[in-house]
Amino acid sequence: MSHWVFHLHLIAAISWIGGSVFMFVLGVTLRDKKVQQAVYPHVGPIFGWFEVWALVILLGSGFVLGDYYSLLPLLFGGGMDELSYALKMKAILVLILTIATVVHFIIAYRTNGKERTKRENLFSRGSSMLIFILNLFVMHYGIVIRNLLN
Ligand code: HEM
Repeated sequence: MSHWVFHLHLIAAISWIGGSVFMFVLGVTLRDKKVQQAVYPHVGPIFGWFEVWALVILLGSGFVLGDYYSLLPLLFGGGMDELSYALKMKAILVLILTIATVVHFIIAYRTNGKERTKRENLFSRGSSMLIFILNLFVMHYGIVIRNLLN
């Protein structure tokens, strides 16, 4: 069954993950501080809002799909069968990922175009690294869930 909300979920997942992979490449290749100072203040907010909307659509469509396939009782129940386990793992990772995104967004918004303190730099880089790695696992559990459903 290919529900239209699943198409929305996938487009949002591609945008969300694709955006972060591209920013990772940009971070690695754009080393010149002057160029960074010229580019990031403009690109940063556009990228930030693009990612926020992708995540909002992901969370919304994810819960609609979860409800559609009657998965929510499994998510909040005590069972540990393969589907329940994959759902719980995905939900926990998505929760951590969302918190890391809020942390990253607040620092980015407050410091865009300004010098950052050491602490802000640490939290900003740490959260983006965490989001990047968690994405790979969230995607893995998304694939496991879909394999079990179809
Ligand atoms: C960062 C957030 C998320 C990402 C990156 C993500 C990613 C994905 C991906 C890539 C798939 C498709 C796997 C495939 O085609 O084999 C998928 C499927 C699915 N996701 Fe998510 N997801 C996210 C959040 C959520 C949330 C919050 C829920 C709800 C609890 C959810 C529920 C589902 C369900 C039920 C499917 C299977 C749908 C179907 O087979 O029709 N997702 N997800």
